[in-house]
Amino acid sequence: MKNIAIFASGSGSNFQAIVEAVRAEELAAKICLLVCDNPKAYVLERARKARIPTFMFQPREYASKEEFEKQIVTQLKERNVEFIALAGYMRLVGPTLLREYEGRIVNIHPSLLPEFPGKDAIGQALAANAKWSGVTIHFVDQGMDTGPIIVQERIRIADDETRESLQRKIQDTEHKLYPAILQMLLTRGEGK
Ligand code: GRF
Repeated sequence: MKNIAIFASGSGSNFQAIVEAVRAEELAAKICLLVCDNPKAYVLERARKARIPTFMFQPREYASKEEFEKQIVTQLKERNVEFIALAGYMRLVGPTLLREYEGRIVNIHPSLLPEFPGKDAIGQALAANAKWSGVTIHFVDQGMDTGPIIVQERIRIADDETRESLQRKIQDTEHKLYPAILQMLLTRGEGK
C-alpha cells in the first residue's frame, strides 16, 4: 500500500472523496498528510474529522517558494510519502518539490485541458459558450495545468446550464474519477 499526501487550498470535496474511497477499500493507499496553504480552508476541518495529519503553512511567512517547499519536502519525507495528489491546491508547484516528486504528482482540473487552464475553469467555459467541458487528470510539471494528460472525461454543457449546475456535474464526475485513477496509478507502480 502506497503512502500518499493530498494538497488542497479550499473546500476539499475531492479530498473527502479520496478519504471515503480509502475507507471503502476501493483505493489501496494510506493518506499520510494533508498539505494546506490556507488557514480558512474547510478541508482542514475534514482532515481533523478524518484524523489525517495536516501540514498547514502560510506562504507569506516564508522568504520564498523555495523555502516553503523545502519545509513541505521535509514533512513528506518524514512520513515516507511516495505519491502526491493535488486537489484544489491553488499554487504552482516549484522546482524544489518537483525535483523530489516529478512523475509522482498528479492534479485534477475542471476542464478539458488544454482548454481553460488556470483559475475559474468553469466560469471560463461558460463565458466562452462552450458546448462541452469536463475533467482532466494529469501529471504535474512546472507549468500551469500543462503536464501530460492521464485521463479526461467529457461533460455536456446544456443550453440552460448555470454555474451551479455545471459545477455539480463536474464535481460528481471528479469525485468518482479521481479515486479510481489514483487506484490505477498506485497499483501499476507509479508511486514507487
Ligand atoms: C476541483 O474542481 C478541482 O478540479 C480543482 O479545484 C476544485 C477543488 O474543489 N483543481 P474541492 O476543494 O475538492 O471541493
